[in-house]
Parts: sequence; C-alpha cells; structure tokens
Amino acid sequence: MQATAIAQPNIALIKYWGKRDIERNLPAVGSISITLSDLFTEVSVELDEKLRADSLMINGVFDEQRLPRMQLCLDNVIGEQRVRARITSQSNFPIAAGLASSASSFAAATVAAAGAAGLSLKVDDLARVAGRASGSAARSFYGGIAELRNCDNTINLNALCNEHSWPLKVVVAITETGPKHTGSTEAMEISRNSSPFYSSWLEQQDGDLQIARTAIEQRDFAALAEIAEHNCLKMHSVMWASRPAIVFWNSVTLQCLQTVRRLQEDGHNVFFTIDAGPQVKAVCL
Ligand code: DP6
Repeated sequence: MQATAIAQPNIALIKYWGKRDIERNLPAVGSISITLSDLFTEVSVELDEKLRADSLMINGVFDEQRLPRMQLCLDNVIGEQRVRARITSQSNFPIAAGLASSASSFAAATVAAAGAAGLSLKVDDLARVAGRASGSAARSFYGGIAELRNCDNTINLNALCNEHSWPLKVVVAITETGPKHTGSTEAMEISRNSSPFYSSWLEQQDGDLQIARTAIEQRDFAALAEIAEHNCLKMHSVMWASRPAIVFWNSVTLQCLQTVRRLQEDGHNVFFTIDAGPQVKAVCL
C-alpha cells in the first residue's frame, strides 16, 4: 500500500484569485496556466495499518504545520476512515514562495494516495479531487497550456494546447528564497472581504479568459502577452487594495519587470507574470 508520484507546478497566465465555495475549495473564477517541465515535486504515500498517526516529511524534515492540509487531501482521495499514512515530499525548488509548490505537491499527493489505496481514477476525477486541496493543483494534471472552467457545482479541466504544439519557455527569477508571509488561501479571503476591486476582478475575468483562449488558439504571442500581463497586474491590484494590503513584491521583483519591459522594447517576445509571491516568471516564445 505504497505509491509515489511526480507532478510539475504550473504558472497561471490568467489567474485564479478568490473562492466561491470555501468548504469545497471551488474557485470564484476560471483560469489558464502553463505547466513547467523542469521543476517537480515527488510525493510518496505509504498506508500502514500499524501507524497510529499520519506523518509528513518535506525535503527531509518533519512538517507538523503542513500536515493537516495534506491529511485533508488524503481524506478527499481515500476517505476519512482511511489507514494512517507516512507521507514524504521532495521538491527541486523553493516551496511556499510563489513558485506554485502547492500545485505540484497536491497533484502528486493525490495520485500517490490513489495509487497507495489501489484506486483507479480517471485524470479528470483526480484533477477535481486535487483541486479540493489546492485550486491550482487541478491544472497540473495537464501538460502544455490548460484551462480550468467553473461549472455549476464543480470544475472542468481541458488542455488548450500541448507542450509540443506551442513550446514556450518559462524563465523563473527567484528574487527571494524564504517562505511567503501569507498563504494564497488566506490572502484570497482577505481580498474577497476587503478589496474594493474584487467585484470588478470577478466581472472581467470571463473577458480575459476569452481573449487568452483566442490568442492561444491562434498562437498569437503578442496578444497573449498583453492579456496575461494585464490580468496579473489586475490580480496584484486587488491584493494591494485589500485591508490589510497584500504585497508580495520586493525591489528585485520590480527590477525584473523593468528588465522584461526593456527586452520587449528591444523586440524580444517575452512577457512577465507573478503569482502569490515575489518571484517573476518570464514567458518566452
Ligand atoms: C496567485 O491554488 O495556491 O498562484 O486553492 O487556496 O490552495 P488554494 O490556492 P492556490 O492559489 C493560486 C493563486 C495564484 C494564481 C493561480 O495559480 O491561478
């Protein structure tokens, strides 16, 4: 009753920010992301009837703080009456620092948990279960560019283009290696409850998704660049106007944006995006 799985993080081009149902972790908006190839998280789940409690080891260190969320993820996959588990997780990049480690961790944990319990679930179902643990994790089940769509009571995932048909490169600038001050889940709730821009963020998202979908379909890099940067800055504006303000950027984050702007002025096909952390991702043609 042991299984190991590997998943890659994904970077949102059109962002998920806000929840419509906290209990089931349903996002308030759809999103579009690109899955990375070189960064990964490997999770092993060993179910052992002799264990009296679950344990979680991250990069060789027991982590009590992150254990409850991981336990919930396993409960969602296997059921609350499950056998206790030894969980180990290893990432080849900084975790909880705005590099989407929750996406790769919960995607890998979901697959490993299902494998350890001998469950054979379809990819879509695995993605939905992983999404209950972390919204962005649902998108990591698809390579290339994927879209998460909101439906009545659930989410639907689909691949918009695979990694071979439009092989974009993502350069990640790590501006800070420490953990971020506020987790996405908490920060989203602060924004929902206090940002004066939150409702317009929700209203405009479908339009942004449509523009991005068309740009991806037509492999129109310039159009994708324009809408992705706009959507990213809009999400951060929602955060900045929250009370308390949620500011993940540092001075190097801003310098990286200026560097990308200079590259664009010199005619390079590149755009930036930033998630809930200080790191800058430069997406290149
Ligand atoms: C800014 O998926 O980490 O990266 O569902 O609460 O775990 P939870 O949130 P999470 O949020 C990701 C936020 C984002 C944008 C995105 O990836 O779409």
